[in-house]
Amino acid sequence: MTLRAIGWTLLVGLGLGLFLLLPQPALTEAETVHDYVGAGKCKRCHGKELIGDQYEVWSQGPHRRAFATLKSEASLKIAEELGLETLPHEAAQCLECHVTGHGLDATRFAYELDPVDGVQCESCHGPGRDYRKKKIMSDRERAIAHGLWEADRDESICLACHNPRSPTFDPERYVLPDGTTRGFDFKLAIERIPHAIPADVKGRYVELEAEAKERKQQGAR
Ligand code: HEC
Ligand code: HEC
Ligand code: HEC
Ligand code: HEC
Repeated sequence: MTLRAIGWTLLVGLGLGLFLLLPQPALTEAETVHDYVGAGKCKRCHGKELIGDQYEVWSQGPHRRAFATLKSEASLKIAEELGLETLPHEAAQCLECHVTGHGLDATRFAYELDPVDGVQCESCHGPGRDYRKKKIMSDRERAIAHGLWEADRDESICLACHNPRSPTFDPERYVLPDGTTRGFDFKLAIERIPHAIPADVKGRYVELEAEAKERKQQGAR
């Protein structure tokens, strides 16, 4: 070994040693485990007309009825064909995609989730116990740091359930503008469950809500 090579070896060794000695960085807020609260807690704000009542839209949409679907004739037939030993609405093989948080440890639920509510907000937006405060919610970066998932750009959230493991997966369910078909298309699928905040309210809800409250108080006087 040349002197130079020995020098390098010592330097690399020292670097590695230092790296191993340094304390491991603490979990960032985004990496800490967040707990589920259930759609009823989101309703407090997202059930208001001013913000676009996402709760009502979800209530009328496919995800809310996902549990009820497991009690349908179609589900009983699928269960029979698969040779399930339990009813579909009691079978882990179905519940895993038809309700929120199935199979997770009980400690992950700050409040008990009712299976009847099917696939709730937090299956797509992330467990909300830590981001649901108004101040945090109004600031996207902060909300993400407190556990909000980026549902508007992360297709993998949907693909966890919308995949060929679904017994009703149909590779031709989505027809793209160019005529090709897919079992799931992120962009087209989002258009099928629209629940936007009205454009003139987006980013201003807290301010507009305060104004509305003020007007109401003045009206009452
Ligand atoms: C936890 C599982 C789960 C996740 C995550 C999920 N879905 Fe679904 N989705 C379902 C189930 C189950 C149904 C069928 C519900 C029914 O009709 O009973 C469904 C139905 C739908 C439907 C109506 C059927 C269709 O394909 O036209 C759309 C649209 C849809 N989902 C879009 C999405 C989008 C977009 C995402 C991601 C942002 C998503 N879903 C994430 C489980 C899920
Ligand atoms: C991997 C996730 C997944 C699993 C597991 C799953 N499903 Fe689903 N299910 C979905 C999704 C997503 C949809 C929406 C249509 C599609 O893309 O398949 C759906 C739709 C359905 C529908 C049609 C609803 C409608 O009106 O169009 C029925 C019925 C159904 N599932 C029954 C079952 C039964 C019964 C089981 C258990 C044997 C089961 N599913 C297991 C994800 C799943
Ligand atoms: C199946 C997945 C799914 C479920 C369930 C779901 N969302 Fe969403 N949500 C999305 C996606 C995807 C977007 C982004 C849509 C876009 O950018 O066009 C979104 C957007 C939003 C937005 C932002 C709208 C905007 O204009 O910026 C709010 C607020 C929201 N959801 C609240 C809720 C609430 C509250 C519930 C439950 C009552 C819920 N969502 C249920 C997938 C879901
Ligand atoms: C205390 C009121 C409150 C509660 C509870 C609440 N939110 Fe929000 N949420 C807001 C406000 C305020 C905004 C920002 C509205 C605006 O654009 O001005 C917001 C924005 C959002 C957005 C859009 C984030 C972005 O910038 O892209 C999503 C998604 C969302 N909320 C989902 C949820 C979900 C899911 C729950 C339940 C777990 C929930 N919220 C509970 C008040 C609330």
